[in-house]
Amino acid sequence: MQNVFEEELQRSTIFQDRNVLSPHYVPDHLPHREQEITRIMKTLAPALSQKRPNNLFVYGKTGTGKTSSLKHVLEKLEEVKAKYSTPVDYVYVNCHTHNTKYQVLIKIAEKLKPGEDFRGYQPTHLHDLLLKEISRKKMFFFVVLDEVDKVKDLNELMYLLTRANDELPSSCHVGVIGISNNLTFKEKLDARAKSTLCQEEMVFDPYDAKQLVAILGERVEKGFRKGAVDDKAVAIAAAFSAQDQGDARYALRLLIKAGELADANGGKLREEEVRAARSAVEEDIVLDAIQGLNDQLTFVLYAIAELTQNGGSRYGRLQEPTGEVNLYSGEVYEKYESVTKKFGKQPKSARWYREYLNDLETMGLITTTMSGPGTRGQTLCIKLQFPADKVTGAVKKRFE
Ligand SMILES: Nc1ncnc2c1ncn2[C@@H]1O[C@H](COP(=O)(O)OP(=O)(O)OP(=O)(O)O)[C@@H](O)[C@H]1O
Ligand SMILES: [Mg+2]
Repeated sequence: MQNVFEEELQRSTIFQDRNVLSPHYVPDHLPHREQEITRIMKTLAPALSQKRPNNLFVYGKTGTGKTSSLKHVLEKLEEVKAKYSTPVDYVYVNCHTHNTKYQVLIKIAEKLKPGEDFRGYQPTHLHDLLLKEISRKKMFFFVVLDEVDKVKDLNELMYLLTRANDELPSSCHVGVIGISNNLTFKEKLDARAKSTLCQEEMVFDPYDAKQLVAILGERVEKGFRKGAVDDKAVAIAAAFSAQDQGDARYALRLLIKAGELADANGGKLREEEVRAARSAVEEDIVLDAIQGLNDQLTFVLYAIAELTQNGGSRYGRLQEPTGEVNLYSGEVYEKYESVTKKFGKQPKSARWYREYLNDLETMGLITTTMSGPGTRGQTLCIKLQFPADKVTGAVKKRFE
């Protein structure tokens, strides 16, 4: 019998350190984000001399380096804190997994009093603990809320954190840094919560192809064996990603997949591997996105994909010169109703349906535009951002 373990060890690979290419890796150096990093540091810096810093809201499309830049800044803050014992601290909360005021409060409590388990505590108790610990330590404390749009009761959380500052002595402060890739969510906040969170705002622009070449270059050097990756392959991966969203995460995924294909072919990573990887990565992205959708969102997406694929709508479709299909919102709603019933569920009202479209757009699965005057008045038009067959395939897989 073959020893699979031994084979695995002997298998030749072009990867040197896959970890460097993973999305969780925080590089020491973030090319083309130097200015943004400096600006965030300058915003927070007054806290080191006990002056109240502005709250900061950072937004920009997915994969533009928001989380990485913030983590970089927090590392620098940690260094200074250790060196000078300054009374400054922070908690980093990923609101994708901690998506309520209560859960954020627990994360704050855990940071302020490490080693204790606060699950099951009353919210008022956690609030009191926050005030007590921060005043006791005479501290400036930052709450970093990554993916802040995911917090369900954000208005209340913002209110609580602002009120804390009214109740704390002037030698203490609670600052908030919000990060989001949802460009429209802040419009849904209360005026007061919005003005608190957005005292200062920063936009992270998508990367262009040249910037992505620099970003990928540093990772390729550490992640792959010397000489294993063609320069042209990096250039084409950067070009695809820039064309798409200017998303560095996508660019890295493309290179990993292309590296795996190169390994399977037993050769170098060339332009061909990147081209082939593109389709596989899109499939993975669609699958991942669909895993995370609730049923209703999945039905709306499925309706869009089916109409895109088969057409046959009552009103006809808007065909773009590029051959891409634009659907009318009304026909999609009708299709959504029938799809939902087919899956044995009750469709929701048109008001909910609008929300679902908004969510799908935020996730980058669709884009919506208002049609100009002339085509049946002003209508919302919807365009799928991924190949329709990949989407219907992934949905079917999910409900199998
Ligand atoms: N300037 C950069 N230099 C090096 N790597 C980068 C840079 N920008 C982004 N990356 C890499 O791209 C990936 C995505 O970056 P990051 O997670 O910071 O994006 P994000 O803006 O937070 O995206 P999202 O909105 O989806 O959370 C990470 O692997 C990160 O290391
Ligand atoms: Mg992020």
